Amino acid sequence: MKTEPFQLPRNFVWGAASAAYQVEGAWDADGKGPSVWDTLCRKPGAIYGGNTGDVACDHYHLYKEDVAMMATLGIQAYRFSVSWSRVLPAGAGTTNRAGLDFYDRLVDDLLAHKIQPWLTLFHWDYPQALYDKGGWLNADSPKWFADYTRIIVDRLSDRVTHWMTLNEPQCFVDLGHRQGIHAPGVKLPFDQLLKIAHNVLLSHGLAVQQIRAHAKSTPTVGFAFVGHTSTPATNSPADIAAARHAMFTVREKNFFNNTWWADPIFLGHYPEDGLQLFGKDMPAIPDADFKTIQQPVDFYGLNIYNGETIRAGADGHPEPVPYPPGFPHTLMGWPVTPEALYWGPRLFHERYGVPIVMTENGMSNPDWVALDGAVHDPQRIDFLSRYFREYLRAAADGVPLHGYFAWSIMDNFEWAEGYKQRFGIVHVDYQTLKRTPKDSAHWYANLIRTNAESLPV
Ligand code: GCO
Repeated sequence: MKTEPFQLPRNFVWGAASAAYQVEGAWDADGKGPSVWDTLCRKPGAIYGGNTGDVACDHYHLYKEDVAMMATLGIQAYRFSVSWSRVLPAGAGTTNRAGLDFYDRLVDDLLAHKIQPWLTLFHWDYPQALYDKGGWLNADSPKWFADYTRIIVDRLSDRVTHWMTLNEPQCFVDLGHRQGIHAPGVKLPFDQLLKIAHNVLLSHGLAVQQIRAHAKSTPTVGFAFVGHTSTPATNSPADIAAARHAMFTVREKNFFNNTWWADPIFLGHYPEDGLQLFGKDMPAIPDADFKTIQQPVDFYGLNIYNGETIRAGADGHPEPVPYPPGFPHTLMGWPVTPEALYWGPRLFHERYGVPIVMTENGMSNPDWVALDGAVHDPQRIDFLSRYFREYLRAAADGVPLHGYFAWSIMDNFEWAEGYKQRFGIVHVDYQTLKRTPKDSAHWYANLIRTNAESLPV
């Protein structure tokens, strides 16, 4: 399929992403306090193979090598997260200077290599000490997050200009507090979950206020949410309407949806269908809360790996279209659906009106170092080629795309899946910590060099 020639926006960044708990290791080094993930990894049976993030990729000690590798690949931006309990071992109170110093050094090294730091404030590794005080359920939790944000802004905002408040509240609230398969590994009543979700949204709003009030350089602020994407089975108006409806409705009593999170931020209220569905479990919400939550943001960060195919049923309502037997899927069992990177950006931009950044996209593959010493990952190259073509088609159709971050810069600790999954464009040998750029890393470097001109059409 030939995409029309077009220029990506001048400020479009080609990046790669990671998260503190998944790559840093040094779980208790230099004064770091425990997070709920450190705790969950010590619960028998919680994590595949009893794997932990104790060492992970040891990015904490090997970051200089990793940054140099990113520079060699021509990566223009690095999306990383800050470990809250590395900076504030008890989550609040006394800061850990050594912890702050690490991020100071990381940012300086990125800038020295002309790589733009994109900082995620929270990527699931909640301080255990605050969890012991009620965690996100505690009415003080938004202030705790705001105070933590201020410390990071004071230390790094002279050099960090791109900020994401939260990564995937859909996951850490639902998987962590409803399904109990992620940290902190609990299954709470729905009314408590709604309070948690509200405190998370308040935390986002207060953090944006802190960044905008105190950043020493003009900040660009957003978040990185699950981009739950429905794609129309055909380009018929009915199927497109059905896909749009499926994307922007709250259909189940869980938190894996788009509007429960994004409508308060952009529209200043919860979606009516969700309020109806959640009914009596809803806490009383003062209107003032939405003034706090509805802070202006500069981009919608989307983490998209796949979509669901939707057609209009007899009454026009969305109907999922099952994948045929043997449909391509990744090691995670996720279907390969490149069109999600067209429809997701298009429909999210249409509803919320801000530029799109693909803050995560990629695939898990059973990669290993071949006899020739290289890591050949043709599936990932094909996957990325297909997804990029769709992403660039969205840009050609006028969707303002401001960046793309490959998930992940390197293989890492994939939460409850431990090290079974390999999402990196760089292979990590967890015994020796040796990094080996995969064929996809060299392919991505060429894509960046040619600004996607090298993409097969
Ligand atoms: C997520 C998280 C990442 C995951 C990645 C693969 O989106 O779930 O942000 O930490 O590792 O998405 O599952």
